[in-house]
Amino acid sequence: GGVTTIDPGYKNTGSCVSAITFLDGEKGILRYRGYSIEELAEKADFLEVAYLLIFGELPTQEQLDKFHSDIKKHSVVDDDVKKILDAFPKSAHPMGVLSSLTSALTAFNPSSVNVDSEEEMYNAIVRILGKFPILVAWTMRKKMGLPLDYGSSSLGYVENILQMMFKRPDENYEQNPILVNALDKLLILHADHEQNCSTSTVRIVGSSHAGLFASLSAGISALWGPLHGGANQAVLEMLEAIKEDGGDTKKYMGKAKDKEDPFRLMGFGHRVYKNFDPRARIIKKAADDVLGDLGVEDPILDIAKGLEKEALEDDYFVKRKLYPNVDFYSGIIYRSMNIPVEMFTVMFALGRLPGWIAQWREMRLNKEPIGRPRQVYTGETLRSFKGINER
Ligand code: CMC
Repeated sequence: GGVTTIDPGYKNTGSCVSAITFLDGEKGILRYRGYSIEELAEKADFLEVAYLLIFGELPTQEQLDKFHSDIKKHSVVDDDVKKILDAFPKSAHPMGVLSSLTSALTAFNPSSVNVDSEEEMYNAIVRILGKFPILVAWTMRKKMGLPLDYGSSSLGYVENILQMMFKRPDENYEQNPILVNALDKLLILHADHEQNCSTSTVRIVGSSHAGLFASLSAGISALWGPLHGGANQAVLEMLEAIKEDGGDTKKYMGKAKDKEDPFRLMGFGHRVYKNFDPRARIIKKAADDVLGDLGVEDPILDIAKGLEKEALEDDYFVKRKLYPNVDFYSGIIYRSMNIPVEMFTVMFALGRLPGWIAQWREMRLNKEPIGRPRQVYTGETLRSFKGINER
């Protein structure tokens, strides 16, 4: 028999049991494996958090060293990947490039495709953790017209990412601890968020036993959309537009409330958080700190704060419980770090990578069945075929 109930957008449908991330949208609580996001953002580094998410416990120094050294062994990509990257137009959006290159890695790493044992999974995981930052850095270098280069194996995971992104030829790249800390924190805050759109995509693609890289590539495509990770780019473009418009926040508030106008206040609202997004709270403070530490004054930060204040006092937003989400302030920090706006969602993907991996691994270890939702059919009943001349 067919199904009788549907739940568009899965607003009230649980798809799995999971021991990775706890989220209470009413109370604004987010925890990875039992640790609060506030504490992790303050005290942990990104690679530790990646290990925690994927394997369930914080690593000992020895476990972390082994994990990092296994990742470093795979911090190269086949030279032909450069040719593929080279074939994209410079104007290509980095998210499209990133998802294609992640999928392309499958061709160069066939042993990562059919993985069943924990050991095979581990090998695929350290491979992608080594290679993904290279793809991220290279998509940005292509945009900026910089030659492609590898980082340095003597650096920390996040330091190496910054060097791979920004090092200019013949320059002795100096690590700036402010940037390292800011990026660590941003990546941690993005690292997992239970069964969101891209993560559900990774799990459902992976549930057919397609490989990890193919599943991740699908997740990247899901993240790209402006209702999901693409919101961080959209927020900055919206704030820029408001600035160009002489700072007229009222006009954009009006547009967001107008049901005839498709415009939404980007970086506002969340499917699950109906009180506040704890990540947004941490990021707002980090934006103040990082811009202060870097000595950057950005009028866009003031516009964002003004817009937030207006929205939080506005009946429309109050009634619908719409609050700033993780994407509202993150772009302001990325911008102060000189990351181009089209790269913002790529940075989100880099942060979300351990979460996607952890969820994929959990799904496989739990031996979940193939994801295959049902439907309620509303089309034609049986009719007979007409030849083309009779139509
Ligand atoms: N601006 C104006 N109105 C909004 C907004 C917004 N940003 N968000 C929701 N609403 C209204 C919506 O029109 C609806 O009104 P009504 O009840 O009168 O029809 C009501 O609030 C409920 O919204 P919904 O679209 O039914 O809620 P949803 O859970 O399906 O969507 C959302 C959640 C995040 C997609 C949505 O709030 C949105 O589009 N926000 C803007 C994009 C954004 O910032 N996305 C980032 C999400 S956070 C992290 C991430 O995934 O990247």
